[in-house]
Amino acid sequence: MTARIQPSILSADFANLQSELERVGTADGVHVDVMDNHFVPNLTFGPRMVEALQRVSALPLDVHLMITDADRWAPGYAELGVFSVTFHAEAAQDPVALARRIRQIGSRVALALKPGTAVDPYLELLPEFDQVLVMTVEPGFGGQAFMADMMPKLRTLRAAAERHGIELWLQVDGGIAPETIGIAAEAGADTFVAGSSVYGAADPDAAIAALRETAAA
Ligand code: DX5
Ligand code: ZN
Repeated sequence: MTARIQPSILSADFANLQSELERVGTADGVHVDVMDNHFVPNLTFGPRMVEALQRVSALPLDVHLMITDADRWAPGYAELGVFSVTFHAEAAQDPVALARRIRQIGSRVALALKPGTAVDPYLELLPEFDQVLVMTVEPGFGGQAFMADMMPKLRTLRAAAERHGIELWLQVDGGIAPETIGIAAEAGADTFVAGSSVYGAADPDAAIAALRETAAA
């Protein structure tokens, strides 16, 4: 089974982001949390910071937008040339139109579901997306506890992707650590965001290797 590990720079040292990217050189990509203090009660950074990261990152950037006005802002992130742009289901007036726009610009596109957001209304739209992000914490902060009760959503999505015959990446974000990654992998996730468990480790690359091995076991 494929297990893509994407460290979240939310848990990195913001004063040294370039070297923090280099500390996770064996990862499959880097997860970049954009927060606006409206969609979530926390604030990080915007397009200029992502542009700077894109300039120096050897790894593909997976941009997770936790912002209200995705229609207005998401295409601009795709225009920076990032690998993937994720917006939350509630944040777009017309999720399909926005997804098409992002794909047309050239980034992969993902739909994010908060813990309280039902998956059923989106199952028929899955061919419009490259990835679905199932949040396993309330978005906004790193270091929270993994919500195992989100696993049925992953199973539903995996079955629906098979029914559609599409190659949909299923990403989980929140509380991913050696103790939890196997649960998510077993439920169908193949793409794993890990903030505190990677950047909090003395050797982030060793933490990445351990996560990858546990997910594949
Ligand atoms: C939370 C963010 C996550 C966060 C995860 O809102 O979307 O990407 O960095 O951090 P951990 O892995 O510590 O739960
Ligand atoms: Zn995130």
